[in-house]
Amino acid sequence: MSVAKKDYKRITTKSLIEMKSNGEKISMLTAYDYTMAKIVDTAGVDVILVGDSASNVMAGHETTLPITLDQMIYHASSVVRAVERALVVVDLPFGSYQSDPKEALRSSIRIMKESGGHAVKLEGGKEIKESIKKILHAGIPVMGHLGLTPQSIYKFGTYSVRAKEEEEAEKLIEDAQMLEKIGCFAVVLEKIPADLAKKVADSISIPVIGIGAGGGVDGQVLVIHDMLGMNNEFSPRFLRRYLNLYEEMTKAISQYAADVKSSDFPNEKEQY
Ligand code: KIV
Repeated sequence: MSVAKKDYKRITTKSLIEMKSNGEKISMLTAYDYTMAKIVDTAGVDVILVGDSASNVMAGHETTLPITLDQMIYHASSVVRAVERALVVVDLPFGSYQSDPKEALRSSIRIMKESGGHAVKLEGGKEIKESIKKILHAGIPVMGHLGLTPQSIYKFGTYSVRAKEEEEAEKLIEDAQMLEKIGCFAVVLEKIPADLAKKVADSISIPVIGIGAGGGVDGQVLVIHDMLGMNNEFSPRFLRRYLNLYEEMTKAISQYAADVKSSDFPNEKEQY
């Protein structure tokens, strides 16, 4: 079913909740730098996530754990400078909020003040409830993140689908409802069964944004390097590749290198 899109000049947390109640799906993509964020914003994506996946795709780490708060602030401030319409959500990195609510608030304040981002995202449910409340009480919008939470990869052991068993599914539903109740404006559900994700989306009034969580939720998020095909080593079932930039870019760059070697570049018109 297609729904008429309202023309939002600037996306706020309220716009997203309105989109859910109007049945308009929400688009979200990651970006980590000025140039990419400008393209994503111009293309009309509603939410730009400065994800801690920067640790993988920008820095080449195996997990999201090593990225620091300072590095997240650097990426987020580059993104914010490019954006005119989208809501910019910034991940709190591993180690910047797990110790206690005061630390979570201090880290969130640094993100808001130093990057100009519009909201923060944290991974987890009831274990971090007090931290989320503390951040919300300071007037900072919070997006939750449940299901596969990559900062806990060493606890899970694998990146496989989460909440397939009833006990974990029930906890996930309770956590999502708790996140709504305490005042989060949205929640990401990562890599869980589509039926469960739909059940969660139907049971709360804040938007549920899925990644590998099926089509029954209120919006979708992907890592931009994956959907543009810049990274040809990662092909989970949930990923749709819209381009094969790895191949296109490699071809273009090899051509440039060959043109330099052969003195084809620069030609007469490409010089002063
Ligand atoms: O860091 C990230 O890119 C994320 C998305 C996968 C939701 O958290």
